[in-house]
Amino acid sequence: MLTRPPLTLPADQMRAAGGRAIELIIERMSEGALGPVLVRRSRDDLEQDWDEPIPEHGQDLIALVERLAVDALPSGMHSDHPRCFAFVPTSGNYPAVLADALTAAFLSVPGAWLVGSGPTQLELVTLRWLRELLGLDGCFGGLFVSGGSMANLTALAAARDSMLGGDLTAARAYCSTQAHPSIARALHIVGLRRDQLVVLPPDDRLRLDPARLAERIRQDRDDGWRPFLVVATIGTTGTGAVDPIEELADVCGREGLWLHADGALGAAAAATDRGRRIMAGLNRVDSLTLDPHKWLFQPYELGCVLLRRPEQLKDTFAMARHFLDSGYLAVSESDGREPNLSDYGPQQTRGLRALKLWLSLKTFGAEAFRAAIDQGITLAEHAAAFIETHPELEPGSEPGLGVVTFRYRPPGVASGSDLDSFQAMLARTVWEAGFAMITTTAVRGETVLRMCTINPRTSVRHVEDTLDHVVECARAVSVHNDRRAAKVRDRDGDAAV
Ligand SMILES: Cc1ncc(COP(=O)(O)O)c(C=O)c1O
Repeated sequence: MLTRPPLTLPADQMRAAGGRAIELIIERMSEGALGPVLVRRSRDDLEQDWDEPIPEHGQDLIALVERLAVDALPSGMHSDHPRCFAFVPTSGNYPAVLADALTAAFLSVPGAWLVGSGPTQLELVTLRWLRELLGLDGCFGGLFVSGGSMANLTALAAARDSMLGGDLTAARAYCSTQAHPSIARALHIVGLRRDQLVVLPPDDRLRLDPARLAERIRQDRDDGWRPFLVVATIGTTGTGAVDPIEELADVCGREGLWLHADGALGAAAAATDRGRRIMAGLNRVDSLTLDPHKWLFQPYELGCVLLRRPEQLKDTFAMARHFLDSGYLAVSESDGREPNLSDYGPQQTRGLRALKLWLSLKTFGAEAFRAAIDQGITLAEHAAAFIETHPELEPGSEPGLGVVTFRYRPPGVASGSDLDSFQAMLARTVWEAGFAMITTTAVRGETVLRMCTINPRTSVRHVEDTLDHVVECARAVSVHNDRRAAKVRDRDGDAAV
C-alpha cells in the first residue's frame, strides 16, 4: 500500500480545505460583510476557548479553519472597517492575501541568489516600482522588512556604522518630540544611551525646527558631543505633520550628518502630486522608512528600508563581514551581479513579503494606488473642514497627512485636565458603542481626539457619520457627567446638613 510522507495531505483534502479557507477569506473581505469595527473579548473568555493542550493527534482541517475564522481571528479591531480611524489602519487587499499563500507554498526566500533567484528578482523589481511610484532617484535601494520599526532599526544601524566607525563615544542623534518611539528603541538597540538622543520641541506646526536643530548641533559640538544623525518624520503618527525635509537636508549637508526620514505613515503620499509637494527634498535623505502595510494597503507584515547608497547596508549586514569559521555559506556567495539580499539586512532567511505589493500593483495598477492615497488626503481635509465649522468641535492641530485631531468642547468645561479626561472618556464611549473606532493623542500636552483617514473603503459619508456620532456621544457623556455632578452635590449637601 502506498503511504504518504509525513505532514502531507491528499490533494482532494487540500482542495476542499483550501476552497473553504478562500470562501471564508472572501466573506471577511467583502464590503457587505464587514461586520463590527471592534470585537471585544476578555483574556478569561479567550483563554477558556483557546488555551488547550497540545493536540497529540490530528483533526479535520476544514473544521479547524472554520473555527479560527469564526472564533479567534475576528477578535480585536477590524482595521479595514470603513469607520475604523484608530492608530494607522490598513485595509489589506485580496491579491496580497493570495501572494502570501503563494510565497508560503513555494517556500520563497529572497536571501541568497542561489536559493531564491526568482524571489530575489521579484523583490528587486518591486523595490524599483516603489521608487518610481514615489519619485525617488534611481540610486535608492534596500529591502523589504517586517514593518516600520524594523526599517528604522535597519537604517539607523547603517547610519551608526557609516558615521561613527565603531566608536559610539559622545555620539548624538536628534529628532523632535513627535518622532515615533521606534526611533528611540532602535537607537537603544544599536547601542546609544538615552542621553545620546536629543529630543527637540517642535515648531508651532509640530515639525522638527531646522533653526533650533542647527543651534543645538552647534552647541553640542562646543560641549564635546559628536552629532551624527538627524531623524525627520514624514507624517507623524500623532498629527500627520511632515518635517521640512529640504531645510533639514541643508542642515545635515552643512554639518555632515546622516538624515533619516521615518516615512512609515506618510511617505507613500509621495505617489500623489499633493504629497510630493509637501515632502519636497525627499531625494536628499540618506535613508528612508516606508511602510506598505499602512498607506499602500498591504496586509501585515510589510515595511521597507531604502538608502541613497544601498551598499552602505552591506557594510553593516553582509554575512562576510560577520565571518565565523563555518564555511557553509561559501557555496552561495554572491558574484555581485546576482545579489544576496541577506547581505542588506539583519535577517538571513526572509519571506518574499514583496510579492504582496507586486501582485496588488499588477492587479490594480499604480493609478488605482495613487487615487486611493489621494482620497485619504482628501478625507482628512474634509474632516478638518467639518470640525472647523461645527459649533461644538475645535481643531487640535493643523490637518496633517491623512490625520486630523480635534476636541469636543462641552459647555461649562473650560480647559485643563477636565477637558483632557473628557476627550479620553469620549473616545472610549465611541468605541464601546461599536459604531466607529477613534483614539486620542497628545498635542502640546493636551489630550485630543484623532482620526486617521487612509482606509480606501472610507467615504466622505463615513467620516461625517462618525463625527456626528462623536458629537452625539459627547452630548450623552456631558448629560451623564452633569447628572453625576448634581448627585455628588446633593450628597455633599445632605452630608453637610
Ligand atoms: C511614523 C511611524 N514610524 C514607525 C512606526 C512603526 O511601524 P510598525 O508598527 O510597522 O513597526 C509607526 C507605526 O505606526 C509610525 O507611525
